Amino acid sequence: MNKDELILLLEEMTISEKVNQLLQLAKPFFKGASDEGEITGPLETMDVSEKVIQETGSVLGAWGASETKSIQKAHLENSRLSIPLLFMADVVHGCKTIFPVPLAMGCSWDLKLAEESAAIAAKEASVSGIHVTFAPMVDLVRDPRWGRVMESTGEDPYLNGLFAEAQVKGYQGKSLREDNMSLAACVKHFAAYGASEAGRDYNTVDISERELRENYLPAYKVALEAGCEMVMTAFNTVHGIPATGNKELMRNLLREEWGFNGVVISDWGAVKELIPHGVAENKREAAEKAILAGVDIEMMTTTYIEHIEELIADGSIQEQLLDEAVLRILQLKEKLGLFENPFRGADESEEAHILLHKEHRNTAKQLAANSCVLLKNEKNALPLKKETKLAVIGPFAESTDLMGPWSWQGSKKDVVTLYSGLKSKEYHASITRSSGCTLTQNDDILLKAALREAEKADVIIMALGEDSEWSGEAGSRTNIQLPEAQVDLIQRMYLTGKPVITVLFNGRPLDLHGVIENTDALVEAWFPGTEGGSAVADILYGDVNPSGKLTMSFPYSSGQIPVYYNHYQTGRPKHAIDAQERYVSQYLDSPNSPRFSFGYGLSYTTFVYEEIKSSKNVLNKEDSLTFTINIKNTGKWEGAEIVQFYIRDISGEVVRPVKELKGFEKIYLKPGEEKKVRFSITEKELRYHHYELDYRSDAGTFEAMIGPNSKEVKTHSFQLIKS
Ligand code: BGC
Repeated sequence: MNKDELILLLEEMTISEKVNQLLQLAKPFFKGASDEGEITGPLETMDVSEKVIQETGSVLGAWGASETKSIQKAHLENSRLSIPLLFMADVVHGCKTIFPVPLAMGCSWDLKLAEESAAIAAKEASVSGIHVTFAPMVDLVRDPRWGRVMESTGEDPYLNGLFAEAQVKGYQGKSLREDNMSLAACVKHFAAYGASEAGRDYNTVDISERELRENYLPAYKVALEAGCEMVMTAFNTVHGIPATGNKELMRNLLREEWGFNGVVISDWGAVKELIPHGVAENKREAAEKAILAGVDIEMMTTTYIEHIEELIADGSIQEQLLDEAVLRILQLKEKLGLFENPFRGADESEEAHILLHKEHRNTAKQLAANSCVLLKNEKNALPLKKETKLAVIGPFAESTDLMGPWSWQGSKKDVVTLYSGLKSKEYHASITRSSGCTLTQNDDILLKAALREAEKADVIIMALGEDSEWSGEAGSRTNIQLPEAQVDLIQRMYLTGKPVITVLFNGRPLDLHGVIENTDALVEAWFPGTEGGSAVADILYGDVNPSGKLTMSFPYSSGQIPVYYNHYQTGRPKHAIDAQERYVSQYLDSPNSPRFSFGYGLSYTTFVYEEIKSSKNVLNKEDSLTFTINIKNTGKWEGAEIVQFYIRDISGEVVRPVKELKGFEKIYLKPGEEKKVRFSITEKELRYHHYELDYRSDAGTFEAMIGPNSKEVKTHSFQLIKS
């Protein structure tokens, strides 16, 4: 159908048919559905009539070719105008094959694998009847107390943008219409959900317009520029108005300024939440504010179906607003080819072949290994030597809770545990496992058994972490240390005097007090997904040399939060040469910088960075400047290094961050091999939002920095001149 035909269809629709297109309901409401749905928000008794369900526009959380087909079939049999349903779901880091959580994926800095993983997720979801995924989540995150940091790729706006683009391309493929194994992507949560005060989920966000534009908005914009079809609103306020009813944000900025003409969906229940937020007296006012703000689909509350007709009838809103919203939804259905083939990719026999395909598992394993970050390695504890006796100890030794939140279709039975990953390599002389404690409780019997195993072993591998329920949505915590029981356990094991290697499975940067001092080596494996255990085994034995680098800082303690690399310097920086002892910006009881900074991660080999050379030291507005650095592998292992390029504007019209990531390159070097890496910039990369929000650069002195992480960099100054 072309646009004119869609308009004709729209004209045929009654006003209530139109309004019902704007409703999204979870699958238990539909005929043909199995009764369990994916419930992520409050489920209240919803008074939805049979007729409304028959005319509803989209379904949330149905899955499986057989189920989605039967819902669609039953729906079309009752649809007066044969308008197919859209099936949407949270396919966030894989569908049946679960990839590492997005924060882990960020640490791989591997855009190609990120795109590939999204394409695989799209394939597995499409064959199971899904059309739209609620991903990528690109909220910039600086507060590890917030459980949803695991859904983001981290604290850097530039890197988040690159991952957003890679994922959108992976999900959407070349054409939604021609390729029925692709998914329409929905970037979320617009906007600035990651800045929830004090890391408490759903909490207030109050940041300046400049901060919003500099750090929080860029990744959403890149996703849209990459062709992302949909946008989901955020639960939080932006400048005092909840995003879902925020006309300035949604209609003026998103639609008018950025030219986005796709479908906007509210987050779960967020339209009705305008009432408890305190910007709507009742459901009618909530509906009015949301539709005026430009929200097309209302997810899981019924203010639109209850009030839009009367709002039009009494002239509070124009019918044209409704028509525009419905047309956008019909256009998306059309783009996905649903009018011709309402079942699209759903196919039971293909499902059996595609889901968890060997190649998908291989990509998951590769991405999981590339996402592991080696945070400590002393006394050559890693890689493990072959023919040693291993004791794998801790509540994660044999845990299948490795997929992390948002892996609703992933099955624990498909997960490779750490113990089974290590065992199946057959490199060990012997291998045992024991839990030593539960996730949160000491247990004498378990401890004794673990100590017995430890005594017999050459090396102790501690498998510690967080239950997946402790992060993700509504997973905020004030204490981001591991539970005392796990800290006690590692202390006891370290006292044995045997080498201790720790692997962490968790969804947020942790305060590592009690852990870091009691281990010789530490691998941050995050929630690594279906192939987690085999990927970590590759890392521990050195079949894969670790190359992951953190994309979110690890604080010393939660008292430092928020702590992130691209902060401002202040007027009394701690390390200024003339700094007085006391009256500088510092904590009396903690360093200012995090325990592990953005970009940090070790390898089994060592890389030496020479000084930066540049083509010249002056940049004008028409020109570009190239910085070159020579990097040598001085260790004994072949390995990959993520070389990072940062810029600092020494003096701007407004204060500028001490560092901003502007580029990176992953290089592979054999022992003794060296390579020159080049980064170029133009005046464009030096622009930023000024006081009046105009986006331009300031002439003056800049620093280019290149290094293995955001802390240890080589520096080279240059001038930007007006020309
Ligand atoms: C979450 C979204 C998710 C939606 C649908 C909400 O509670 O905030 O990220 O896409 O539920 O499951």
